[in-house]
Amino acid sequence: MLEEQRARLEKRTRRLRRTEPIRRMLRETRLHPDMLVAPVFVTEGSHRTEEIEGMPGASRYSFDELPVYLERLAGAGIRGILLFGVPDTKDETGTGAYSRDGVVPRTLAAIKPSFPELVVMADVCMCEYTSHGHCGVLNGKEVDNDRTLPFLARAAVEYARAGADVVAPSAMMDGQVRAIRAALEGSGMDDTLVMGYSAKHASAFYRPFRNAAGSAPAFGDRRSYQMQPGNRREAMEEIRQDIEEGADMVMVKPALAYLDVISEARRRFDLPLAAYNVSGEYSMLKAASLNGWLDEKEAVQEVLTGIRRAGADLIITYFAEEAARWMKEGW
Ligand code: PBG
Repeated sequence: MLEEQRARLEKRTRRLRRTEPIRRMLRETRLHPDMLVAPVFVTEGSHRTEEIEGMPGASRYSFDELPVYLERLAGAGIRGILLFGVPDTKDETGTGAYSRDGVVPRTLAAIKPSFPELVVMADVCMCEYTSHGHCGVLNGKEVDNDRTLPFLARAAVEYARAGADVVAPSAMMDGQVRAIRAALEGSGMDDTLVMGYSAKHASAFYRPFRNAAGSAPAFGDRRSYQMQPGNRREAMEEIRQDIEEGADMVMVKPALAYLDVISEARRRFDLPLAAYNVSGEYSMLKAASLNGWLDEKEAVQEVLTGIRRAGADLIITYFAEEAARWMKEGW
């Protein structure tokens, strides 16, 4: 070999990856079950465990069957869940979202005392509860931002009273964090955390969730309130406003097509940052894995590592239970 070539090769980065112990020691991004949050769908009625179409391995539970599932999550080392209610009946103003005997308050009251170590987050939105499937109340064919705010605030207070540690408004109404923060303070619930779904994009990857929650809009779409995918600067503005309105944590959603948004949010803001690895992102990995086209464990590890590397403190993912078990085995 020429002297000149050898000199250049004194810089060999491959030395850093020669053995597994060296690679492990030098790993820059690590995952831990503590940073995972499992979304949980809860239905009305009893003796119901229903597999969700398009999400093999994920189910909806009636609240009598929920404790078994929560035990399993806790056993895997999961510390956080994000609750979604799937009511049997819906109406124009989404009454089920904010009534005291709605599916979420009743579930919270039932599970919270038995799982004191679990951080219980409750999604605050109208779309699962409205007959038209939009995230707020309507004025004609439009979602009425300001008339929706008191409903969201009422729902948040009910969930906080019933035991939610965190309320998470996902309706993408302007001023929703401020309205909720004020209502919580006004009802003595000042310890309840607010996690804003701050930069929530109108995404094709929510489709399986809408099957799970029966929340697809009956007409139109959500593009007049959820963000358009191409706008990173606007995402920063959404996050900034949520922080100004009193959010304790912020979120970027979905995760995979938005890693740059996560990364920039991490650089600009210091509050805890969650990334939501959404239903469709789960479906595509599951489908490919079940077909034998991908190795599920390796693919999930790579995806979650990428979201973490981009800067997320918390990852909300339907893979939470499986991933936590793999992490314990030392993946
Ligand atoms: C409710 C809500 C949605 C999701 C979380 N909260 C659906 C939507 O906006 O249509 C999607 C989560 C997922 O796809 O996993 N507004």
